[in-house]
Amino acid sequence: MQESIDSTRLGANRTGMQTSPVLGKAMLDNTEIDLVEPTMDPQPLAEVRADYIRDADPLGSVPPPATAKGMAKSGMKMMTGNRPQAFVDKLAERLAYERGGTRLYDAAIVKFAEYSDELQGVTVADLEQIRDEEADHAALIMECIEELGADPTAQTPSADLVGIESMGLMQAITDPRTNLAQTLHALLLAELGDEAGWETLIAFAEQIGQSEMVTRFREAEQHEQEHVFKVRGWYESLTLETGELV
Ligand SMILES: [Fe+2]
Repeated sequence: MQESIDSTRLGANRTGMQTSPVLGKAMLDNTEIDLVEPTMDPQPLAEVRADYIRDADPLGSVPPPATAKGMAKSGMKMMTGNRPQAFVDKLAERLAYERGGTRLYDAAIVKFAEYSDELQGVTVADLEQIRDEEADHAALIMECIEELGADPTAQTPSADLVGIESMGLMQAITDPRTNLAQTLHALLLAELGDEAGWETLIAFAEQIGQSEMVTRFREAEQHEQEHVFKVRGWYESLTLETGELV
C-alpha cells in the first residue's frame, strides 16, 4: 500500500513551464511566430471530420420485439412511429448505466476497503449499500424490458453510448494511483448522470402512459437523489474539511 494517501503533497512535478524558464521562453517565441503566420489551418481537419459525419452509420439499431404478446399487453402496439423502440432504447440505456454503475462501485469498494481503518464519514458498508441499489435498478429495468416483449441483452444505440461515456470513469476508479477523494469525484459524475437519466426515463414513461413503470422508476430516482447527496457530501468533506485529498 502507498505510504501516504495524500496526493496534495509537494513533489517533483515538472509539467509546468516555470520549471524551465529558458526553454519556456523559446517555446513562446515560436508560438508568437506561429500566431503571426499560422502553420496549421484547422479547416482541412474540420472538412475531413464533416465528411465522416455525413457518411457515418448510426451507433446501432433497436431490434424488433421478440414477443408480440408482450407488446400487445403493455399497450406498446398502440403507439405509432418510432415511439416503442425509442422507449426500449432508453430502457436499455438505463440498464447499461446501472450495470456499469454497479461495476464502478465494485471497483471503488476495493480501494476504500484498503483504507478502511482511516475512513471518516464514509464506510465500506455505505458504498456496498449504494452498489446493491444500482444492481437492483438494473434488475428492475431488465424486468421492464422483458414485460414489453423486448430483449434486455440487446445492445441498443443509447446503451452503447453510455458504455463509451463511462469508460473514463472506470479508468479513473480502477487506477491504483487515484486516492479516495479522486475516486469519489468519478463516482459523483456517474451519480449526476444517473439522476438525470432517470428523470428523462420517467418523463418518457409518463408521456406514453406507462403509469406502473413511472411508480417503480420514481422509487429508483429517490435512491439516486440520495446517492448524489451522499457521494457529494463525502467528496466535499474529504476535499474541503480535511484540506487533504485523502
Ligand atoms: Fe446511483
